[in-house]
Amino acid sequence: MRWVCGVTAVEDCLKFILECRTSQVYGIFESKTGGMVGIVSIGRRKDSAASGWFSGWIRSDKGKKGYFSDSGTLAIRQAFRKYGMHRLYARIDPNNRPARKALQKLGFRYEGCLRRDKLLHGLWINQECWGLLKSEWKNKA
Ligand SMILES: CC(C)(COP(=O)(O)OP(=O)(O)OC[C@H]1O[C@@H](n2cnc3c(N)ncnc32)[C@H](O)[C@@H]1OP(=O)(O)O)[C@@H](O)C(=O)NCCC(=O)NCCS
Repeated sequence: MRWVCGVTAVEDCLKFILECRTSQVYGIFESKTGGMVGIVSIGRRKDSAASGWFSGWIRSDKGKKGYFSDSGTLAIRQAFRKYGMHRLYARIDPNNRPARKALQKLGFRYEGCLRRDKLLHGLWINQECWGLLKSEWKNKA
């Protein structure tokens, strides 16, 4: 995937797993097959426990089935209700149209663009910022 970098060896994967300890990572499993189709995760910002990042991915052969919308809704509920967060944010590549649509569907709003914010494969790329406040979260069911 274009936006994945720095993961080339087993050590990189172990580093990723260790980092997962500081966040909540939920596996998404298909009820029909029992197979894993992706993850959704939330993590607290170091400088503000009430604010956290939101992220996830779905296997490319399992896209557009509503898995991210369903699991994302559950994760957001956990963040706002169980972990007492008041704000979630996500950063995406401006060219990532599926992610933009998926975040919008979950209620996230566009907050701006960080220009040349991230180094990816030797190039500085822009990052779109998306945010969701507990107070504006509609899907409270
Ligand atoms: C973005 C991503 C998580 C969406 O997962 P998904 O399970 O396919 O999403 P859903 O099925 O819940 O769809 C949510 C919305 O996005 C739209 N969408 C999903 N994939 C799309 C695509 N390839 N092109 C256009 N729209 C797309 C869906 O149509 C739906 O909108 P709608 O109900 O108005 O039609 C998945 O494509 C992915 O893993 N991408 C790579 C990782 C990534 O970008 N993660 C986002 C980080 S926040």
